[in-house]
Amino acid sequence: MPEFIEQLPCHEPQWNQISSVERVQTYQQGIFLICDGNLNLTLSVLAPNLIRVRFSPTVDFIPRRSWSVAIADEEWDTIPFEIEETEKFINIKTAEITVCVQRDPCRIVFIEQRMGNTFAGDTDLGIAWRQNEVACWKQIGAGEKFYGFGERTGLLNQRGKHLTHWNTDCVGYEILTDEMYQAIPFFMSLSPQVNYGLFFNTTYKSQFDVGANQSDILQLHTQGNELDYYLIYGQEPATILNTYTKLTGRMSLPPRWALGYHQCRWSYNSETEVRTLAREFRQRRIPCDVIHLDIDYMQGFRVFTWHKQRFPDPKKLIDELTGQGFKVVTIVDPGVKYDPEADYEVCDRGLENNYFIRNKQGKIFHGYVWPDRSVFPDFIRSDVREWWSSLHKNLINKGVAGIWNDMNEPALDDRPFGDSGNKISFPLDAPQGDPEEQTNHAETHNIYGLMMARASREALDRLRPKERSFVLTRSGYAGVQKYSAVWTGDNHSLWEHLEMSLPMLCNLGLSGVPFVGADIGGFASNATPELFARWMQIGMLYPLMRGHSVIASKRHEPWEFGTEVEDICRQYIELRYQLLPYIYTLFWEAANTGAPILRPLLYHYSDDHNTQELYDQLLLGESLMAAPVYRPGVEHRAVYLPQGTWYDWWTGECYQGSKYILAHAPLAKMPMYIRGGSIIPLAPVMQYTSESAVNQLRLRVTPGTGEYTLYEDDGTSFAYRDGLWSTTNYQVNTEGEQVIIDIQARQGNWNPAPRQIIVEVVGKGVQEFTDDGTARKLQF
Ligand code: GLC
Repeated sequence: MPEFIEQLPCHEPQWNQISSVERVQTYQQGIFLICDGNLNLTLSVLAPNLIRVRFSPTVDFIPRRSWSVAIADEEWDTIPFEIEETEKFINIKTAEITVCVQRDPCRIVFIEQRMGNTFAGDTDLGIAWRQNEVACWKQIGAGEKFYGFGERTGLLNQRGKHLTHWNTDCVGYEILTDEMYQAIPFFMSLSPQVNYGLFFNTTYKSQFDVGANQSDILQLHTQGNELDYYLIYGQEPATILNTYTKLTGRMSLPPRWALGYHQCRWSYNSETEVRTLAREFRQRRIPCDVIHLDIDYMQGFRVFTWHKQRFPDPKKLIDELTGQGFKVVTIVDPGVKYDPEADYEVCDRGLENNYFIRNKQGKIFHGYVWPDRSVFPDFIRSDVREWWSSLHKNLINKGVAGIWNDMNEPALDDRPFGDSGNKISFPLDAPQGDPEEQTNHAETHNIYGLMMARASREALDRLRPKERSFVLTRSGYAGVQKYSAVWTGDNHSLWEHLEMSLPMLCNLGLSGVPFVGADIGGFASNATPELFARWMQIGMLYPLMRGHSVIASKRHEPWEFGTEVEDICRQYIELRYQLLPYIYTLFWEAANTGAPILRPLLYHYSDDHNTQELYDQLLLGESLMAAPVYRPGVEHRAVYLPQGTWYDWWTGECYQGSKYILAHAPLAKMPMYIRGGSIIPLAPVMQYTSESAVNQLRLRVTPGTGEYTLYEDDGTSFAYRDGLWSTTNYQVNTEGEQVIIDIQARQGNWNPAPRQIIVEVVGKGVQEFTDDGTARKLQF
């Protein structure tokens, strides 16, 4: 049903509103408020900028689950705060914010200490509940804009929308689609007065009404039995994300090869086809690190098997590919073919050990996916995850280096695929989870994909203990970044989808998920040569750079569109490989701070009004900005340059910021700019990330004032965790016409291969030296 119909007035049961605070009890981390006789409202101070608010209309709180939140309340460092009680209010004061609770009626508002601005204040409706639903209404300030919300279509700012959290196979998604593959009930609110983030800690179906019903009211609504939200204050988006990712976890550093180009298609159908594909890349000198195998590598789509005729010797195939510098990633779906008579181990063991989802009455649940009638593991159970992890040996032993989880919303039909069935879900009352934490699918639906990705991550870490691996998932929930990279599912070869990938990926980044990508070229339907060329340019910026297309489309490999487009693809994939030292350092930063890799301009210029809705320019890190073309026949576009000085990536031309310019962008050119005072490290072009040691590091420096830290390690092992890493800090200062570069001595224990450093100051000249890790000063 279209969303706008749901908005029509209808007769709904009345809400019961929380009325007054009757008693206050303090405890080590905050206060319990006893409201309306015996209702419990708890405010916990977890950090000076982080407050958890919990309210349960049934008195008891839901036992804590470790699904999404990575740190339990008691694991946060104890911090000082003051409680002040007056006749009308109870104030909890930290170094950064005050939580002010009005006693009668009970209303919560937050105040930041710096300027005294209030934010996220309850409206007259406060907190309320009715059967199996809890909600809270908050004031939206005039200038407030809302970002994040996980995977979202549309533009950047989501104000005015009604956003549902319910993981769905949203094939054919478009601008009005609400329920997406990934539900992440987190947002960031930015306004001229105050910035804050809010994580709504509910895995039940929930909604944010971000001023859709009433433009100045935000509603948090869940079909669960508890209101539980974490309020994060931060002056900058970076601070908010840092705290949010401390709470829900951060990505671990991926292997360097996962940052290279990935080639995928449904389906590379046989060993012969895969060998030809690999050969084409190497012969045409188009860099590529990863080949993905879609569902056809399996025997009748049975997970953890190999097709006997088409993939008779996967080990040999993968050994050969490894010799040519490729890594192989295989798809793994959750649906297990229901095949009790066929000696299919995964089905047999799963049935034997009762690992599959059953309905409330105890009957095994069946649905239809690629392998036809299927059963589904309960990934919420730790024993099932452990078993599932162990099954990966049949892939890892053959040399597979990464796992791609798909269809894990879960996506299934009530009839065989292709038989015009209905999309269904597991019954909402189906029991799920470990015996001591048992719940039902209504609570676990949104984390089914998350827990599957977790099992994949654990499998790879266990079965490839010496090397870092790669996991990719279509479905997830808040905290998915701990386990996996994410792609935005089945997009189309449409200019509109190319355009939409920009705000979608930025909003995912602003939701704590840095390793993200959209299918380059568009998954469904046929790309035109022009669309494909433009998409490859933009794809060069995606943290996950993967080309993928559906079986029914024309082929979408970079050489399928004629030599002009092939040359453009080669040029931009090569540029990606040159930028790898810069991009790898961004991944390191993301792993340590939660910062996005691909950023909207507002991330660094949130005070600049012009950036707040700007969705079609992107920052890769802080220094490199791109203004891509995403419309056919377009050769010019307006580019906004924020404050400071900017240098054209291609010509070195210098511009003063805080203005718009018109960029010329013929098909082979994506306008790109470097911020003044930046240092961008570049490696030589390679056909794959480990083709040879980086024996030449070019530092492209722009005049101005700035600082940069380069992170390096071996790119593959976990030795960095034991101190085998290095950082080099560079400072650039400009005095009059003179540019001075201070290179600090290299820190850390990892020694890069012998190399020349070529320092190129844009518009000034080039100097070169042999890197011995010592400090030096260069003048231009
Ligand atoms: C789903 C995935 C797509 C994959 C296809 C076949 O549609 O989103 O990426 O190619 O299934 O496995």
